[in-house]
Amino acid sequence: MKFAHILLKDTSKLNIPKQVDRFSKFSPSPLSMKQFIDFGSANACEKTAFKFLRQELPVRLANIMKEIDFLPDKLISTPSVQLLHSWYAQSLIEIVDFLEKDPDDKKVLRNFTETLINVRNRHNNVVPTMAQGVLEYKEAFGVDPVTNQNVQYFLDRFYTSRISTRMLMNQHTLIFSGSTNPAHPKHIGSIDPNCDVVEVVKDAFESSKMLCDQYYLTSPEVTIQVNSKGTNDPISIVYVPSHLYHMLFELFKNAMRATVETHENSTHLPPIKVRVALGSEDLTIKMSDRGGGVPLRKIERLFSYMYSTAPSPMTDTARNAPLAGFGYGLPISRLYARYFQGDLHLYSMEGYGTSAVIYLKALSSESVERLPVFNKSALRHYQTSTEADDWCIPSSEPKKLGNVACVQGSSDSD
Ligand SMILES: Nc1ncnc2c1ncn2[C@@H]1O[C@H](COP(=O)(O)OP(=O)(O)OP(=O)(O)O)[C@@H](O)[C@H]1O
Ligand SMILES: [Mg+2]
Repeated sequence: MKFAHILLKDTSKLNIPKQVDRFSKFSPSPLSMKQFIDFGSANACEKTAFKFLRQELPVRLANIMKEIDFLPDKLISTPSVQLLHSWYAQSLIEIVDFLEKDPDDKKVLRNFTETLINVRNRHNNVVPTMAQGVLEYKEAFGVDPVTNQNVQYFLDRFYTSRISTRMLMNQHTLIFSGSTNPAHPKHIGSIDPNCDVVEVVKDAFESSKMLCDQYYLTSPEVTIQVNSKGTNDPISIVYVPSHLYHMLFELFKNAMRATVETHENSTHLPPIKVRVALGSEDLTIKMSDRGGGVPLRKIERLFSYMYSTAPSPMTDTARNAPLAGFGYGLPISRLYARYFQGDLHLYSMEGYGTSAVIYLKALSSESVERLPVFNKSALRHYQTSTEADDWCIPSSEPKKLGNVACVQGSSDSD
């Protein structure tokens, strides 16, 4: 029996590249907020959701597994990336197993939900594990612009894919677990059809303030202003509150840290200003601090996984949760914003302060998943080699024009 089990496991392992090839030939199917809500409405059908997910999850996993192969060899061979790969392979096989199973069998549906919970738990540490791999690579081989560009492109897609598969698994397990969330009976899985934006801003502020007080023994206040289309109703959208909270919490931590550190020697901390505005297309949240700002040259780097990967915060767990960790706060928050077709921008005035702006879609019909797909265009991104820049690089010393004319007119032997 045991032998048969081992044999089965080995066969399925051999099968992995075949399964990855098979499912990566399909493009992922992005879902709209409306579709997510329909899956969770009163007449939601677990059987339909099961039939969709047992195909869609392998497609999303296989698409991103294909891209792992195009990372630099030395990054793929780090123990962390190998471990990650084994998690993805195992999860793919476990879900593909359900393709042969009977959707009318209640036990199958129950097992499927349990499998999704296992898969989700297995992937809990994907972000720090990947970050560890990037660190190991960086420490051994340094960073060059081409590798940075490749890793940036890959990780944006890899983490987006993870956000999306977790969203699918969360929705299924929450909706079909048979119990409603007593704290939020109107939520549909993790979606709040009436997500009160200002409430989430306040929650994120309070949590960040607590951390800041613990760490610095002081923290700035917040002022919140709201612009809506003339009504006094709170601004609300159909959204995943945990995603919005994640982005705002990260932005508050950054703004508080910058404010406190810049005003170390003054008795008064300038407050963080938040403005929430609802238009017909965008719901925009702007958070402005007076934390001294960042020079324009450095702004792009703040979103880079390779340049900003700080030494491992995992060694630092004895201390209170730090206000600054892997340096993934901004890039991952931007992915959450982009996941439902929004965005996150940073505008800074060095010497004064920074404004971070979160853009979300005001209409749920426009909130559709933004998903990576493995195709020829994606492949081309990994094949960029070191090419000469097509903009002139200023030399440190201005050329003497007289000499240049002389060189052009002279022969080699001169
Ligand atoms: N509002 C801000 N004012 C000044 N500098 C900022 C601001 N926001 C971000 N930064 C700079 O950008 C860097 C990257 O921010 P990010 O949130 O991505 O990572 P982190 O804060 O260093 O770590 P983590 O967020 O992972 O705990 C910060 O370390 C900080 O130097
Ligand atoms: Mg941060």
